[in-house]
Amino acid sequence: MENTIQLEELFDAKLERGEFIEPKDWMPEKYRKTLIRQISQHAHSEVIGMQPEGNWITRAPSLRRKAVLLAKVQDEGGHGLYLYSACETLGISRDEVIQQLQSGKAKYSSIFNYPTLTWADMGAIGWLVDGAAIMNQVMLQRTSYGPYSRAMVRICKEESFHQRQGYEIMCVLAKGSPEQKAMAQDALNRWWWPTLMMFGPKDAESSNSAESIKWKIKRETNDELRQKFVDRTVPQAEHLGLTVPDKDLKWNAERNSYDFGEIDWEEFWNVVQGNGPCNKVRIENHVRAHEEGKWVREAAAAYAAKKAKAAQVQVA
Ligand code: 3HC
Repeated sequence: MENTIQLEELFDAKLERGEFIEPKDWMPEKYRKTLIRQISQHAHSEVIGMQPEGNWITRAPSLRRKAVLLAKVQDEGGHGLYLYSACETLGISRDEVIQQLQSGKAKYSSIFNYPTLTWADMGAIGWLVDGAAIMNQVMLQRTSYGPYSRAMVRICKEESFHQRQGYEIMCVLAKGSPEQKAMAQDALNRWWWPTLMMFGPKDAESSNSAESIKWKIKRETNDELRQKFVDRTVPQAEHLGLTVPDKDLKWNAERNSYDFGEIDWEEFWNVVQGNGPCNKVRIENHVRAHEEGKWVREAAAAYAAKKAKAAQVQVA
């Protein structure tokens, strides 16, 4: 029987060779635990993220916009399911991770605790929030845990549609009437800084990054991804004729990147710790919907059990 040191050496060698760690492989308990933490919180973010956008489905300005938004919100629910399934391969049940979310023990992305006040927010979320998510999720396609990577590959295929439909909304508004352009600018003003917070604390303050990079769970750091997002997005804002709400934003030719202002970390931790504008209502809505959907889960489980029993009888 190999001892733990030998198992760790085999695990590290697998990572070194760039091979996936699969559910049946031996893995350090801490590797498993941090994957459960990150993947379940990622899934929670996808599902909670349905609420701010879902808020505008009945108020979309046209049938086309309504259909596109409906498709996007439905996609986010599906992304949550892929990720919950990936999480279950690590030996934790769906009920347990849902309970962690609803009790406040587990986090979800701070960005979804802000209100969606106008239709332009649908554009800003698609353009900025999904744009930031793409930056992070394209990197996570190379994560070392097989089921997580495969979920990311599938999710990334849908994210580009999410980002493009948001940017199209912003284009129409920014090129529209002065009132429409003002609505687009107001949305950019409210969503810009919370979007930068999505990438997490600064690398120097990140409690998990060093280990996540060592285990190739993360392939780039919070600050690297945030910088890539700013460099990619500022020219898009300029194309729209909108102003990024950061007086310190400035092209740095030496770094070939934008310098940008300081994030309000007090606001960030406040929202992460549950005191954002919508934290309470997001969880209340989730608990209510989960309760209302109990009969669906019970019916699906009963059907599956009946089918399994029938299959057993056939085999016997
Ligand atoms: N909101 C809430 N909590 C956050 C956060 C944020 N924006 N950023 C960091 N945190 C939390 C972390 O979860 C961690 O707390 P924990 O140890 O209790 O879990 C703590 O702050 C310290 O942060 P670290 O940087 O040390 O934590 P990580 O190494 O986990 O990095 C992360 C944070 C970059 C968000 C990483 O977890 C990650 O890449 N997660 C997967 C991607 C993800 O969850 N994206 C969220 C948005 S999904 C989305 O937008 C869907 C799209 O379709 C709209």
